[in-house]
Amino acid sequence: MAEIPVFDHDAVLAAVAPEEAIERVRDAFVRFAHGEWRMPPKVYLDAAPNGDFRAMPAAGDGLAVLKWVTSFPANPGRGLPVVTGVICVSSVEDGEPLALCDARGVTALRTGAVAAVAAQELAREDATSAAVVGCGLHGAWAGRCLVAAEYAEGVCFDPDPDAAGALAGELGWEVGGREDALACDVVTCVTPGHERVVGARELRPGLHLSMLGADGPGKAEAEVEVVARCALFCDEWEQASHGGELTGAVEAGLVVREQVTELGEVLIGRAPGRPAPEATTLFDSTGLAIQDLAICSALLEAHRRGEARAGLARL
Ligand SMILES: NC(=O)c1ccc[n+]([C@@H]2O[C@H](COP(=O)([O-])OP(=O)(O)OC[C@H]3O[C@@H](n4cnc5c(N)ncnc54)[C@H](O)[C@@H]3O)[C@@H](O)[C@H]2O)c1
Repeated sequence: MAEIPVFDHDAVLAAVAPEEAIERVRDAFVRFAHGEWRMPPKVYLDAAPNGDFRAMPAAGDGLAVLKWVTSFPANPGRGLPVVTGVICVSSVEDGEPLALCDARGVTALRTGAVAAVAAQELAREDATSAAVVGCGLHGAWAGRCLVAAEYAEGVCFDPDPDAAGALAGELGWEVGGREDALACDVVTCVTPGHERVVGARELRPGLHLSMLGADGPGKAEAEVEVVARCALFCDEWEQASHGGELTGAVEAGLVVREQVTELGEVLIGRAPGRPAPEATTLFDSTGLAIQDLAICSALLEAHRRGEARAGLARL
């Protein structure tokens, strides 16, 4: 009978610091772009009217992971999280299960980390200020990772003043209005995607936008014209064009595949990044299983070094 470690939410976050998450997620995009890491498309299992389940597999680094995660939007009304689930990590040598990880902690870290990687890679070289629009769970982790990427000044905007205030206080940033946030060099949007928080009139030369909130069909954080006018980047074209910030512009015929560059292609130097300092860039993150794999791999290494707390499950 196998005995495997189980990492709860707090154990995940204690074992992998934002700085390491950023490097690991960057490396995951590089390996995926080189074809070393593999990731079949995610599978949705509808659970209407409550929400849906998503199965997200990936393989690399001698590991295979399956993330089994929810989106149950009405759950906060029951005192439960919208996103919850578990990641099963197995060995690609012999197929043996190696660990079970809390999906919320891994998702928070890997989502925040990609915001930092996108800013490092796509923002102007002289960018110094950053903003988070939507300071909830994942916005907070985006902010923590942007600070880890040395964005020491920034603005937190959220219609919930407590959310903005708590995050700004933690990060050492300012609380501001939406206009203050959009005046920063790097703007990371992590709202539920029900209303537009970036309008075409607000675009200006040199701005970098990272859009993280629209991670499923029907969600968008920017007007379609914003997407149509920016130099475009995404985590993965299939996901981004079908259930991301790009979807509306693609469906309207305003954006085609050739106009969009995947982040990994930029990281390995196969495609150019920011076209010019005065360009306006937009990165669409929908969330990839390779990002989860990157964090799980870091977690298992920390555990082998005796630096990650774990329970045990006997299978
Ligand atoms: N791209 C990814 O990999 C990824 C990963 C996880 C979550 N997400 C998505 O990110 C979004 C946020 O998730 P969360 O778990 O942080 O949710 P959350 O409910 O914890 O936080 C959302 C925050 O947005 C704020 N908000 C709502 N409307 C706003 C507006 N118009 N302007 C500014 N702020 C506004 C809310 O007050 C809240 O604080 C969701 O759509 C979720 O599906 C994406």
